[in-house]
Amino acid sequence: MIEEILNIENIDIYFVIGIILFFSILESISGFLKNSNRKKGDWIQEIMSFFVLGNLIKPLIVFLIFKAGDFYFPEYRFALGSYPFIILFSIYILTDDLFQYWYHRRAHETPFLWKLHRPHHQAEEMGYFVSYRNALLYYLLMPNIWWAALVVFLGGAKAVALGLILKQLVIIGSHSRLKWDKLFYEYAALRPIIKVVERIIITPAFHHSHHGTSRLDSASEPNGNFGNMFSLWDQIFGTATFQKSYPKEYGLQQKTNDPWTASYFYPFVKSPDPKSEWNSGFKKTDTSSLEALSFSLTKGKNYLWCACGMSNKQPFCDGSHHGSKFKPHKFTAKRTGEMKLCNCKKSNQTPFCDNTHLNQ
Ligand code: FES
Repeated sequence: MIEEILNIENIDIYFVIGIILFFSILESISGFLKNSNRKKGDWIQEIMSFFVLGNLIKPLIVFLIFKAGDFYFPEYRFALGSYPFIILFSIYILTDDLFQYWYHRRAHETPFLWKLHRPHHQAEEMGYFVSYRNALLYYLLMPNIWWAALVVFLGGAKAVALGLILKQLVIIGSHSRLKWDKLFYEYAALRPIIKVVERIIITPAFHHSHHGTSRLDSASEPNGNFGNMFSLWDQIFGTATFQKSYPKEYGLQQKTNDPWTASYFYPFVKSPDPKSEWNSGFKKTDTSSLEALSFSLTKGKNYLWCACGMSNKQPFCDGSHHGSKFKPHKFTAKRTGEMKLCNCKKSNQTPFCDNTHLNQ
């Protein structure tokens, strides 16, 4: 039955458009769009990104894979077409999602890829269209799109179509402001269900946490929860943080005034904002020094200590660690008073100074 439906030409596209319409209508009638602070540039970038991805980037990658495949391995064209659908589909979707997990994670840990992915995290409101908010080059280099094209070449077009439909449902659902999982956290009787579900697929609470501005908010983990369809990879590679609530604030700590052209066409268009990361090189300045810094802390208050050494608000984090493997160290002050905080970043008792800097 499923296979018969998947035989309909362009069925995946119809489904994806249907999913987007479904979430857009629900977000509209829920009043989210009326109270939205989104700017015109946000809409332009996201709508354009969606259309360019579907109508230009994907067809181009499929074209290139077919050209290369026919040239180098013509005997493999549709070679797997007779394999059982369930096997093809399972291999395709798991590999696709694993590729995307690592690509997404690397986009947070390497300077060049971070600049291509940064537009996605500039969004200060969640919403179904935020799913498509990345630089043009980010999609062109996305390994799972190349993988999907290869599977189509090998004869797995139906597996790719079903994977695309299910994946878009999960991804758009987890970006949407509708928060379909909220009900499950609110009612104790429903919690066991969501505990199982969130250990399989990405839920809004899990993914919204990734978009939260700062780890100071306990519902936010901007340096984790990298999964796209399955939370399996985050659990295996130690980056999963399961949440029961949603961040208070979304977006980046450092706000800059970038036109959508600079974020979408990076590195081809420069931002006029001198503070923008899109204007700087890849190596961020080390702003830490050897000397410890004394600060008056308040008992019970949470602080984010900078671990990367690049913050301009030393010894605290200002979000400059994005695009590196570092993440800030969150701690709660145990007493009120002056404390010496490590600024050489080498202390064995971080965030506090243990005089390691005296030996450097
Ligand atoms: S700026 Fe956040 S860890 Fe350094």
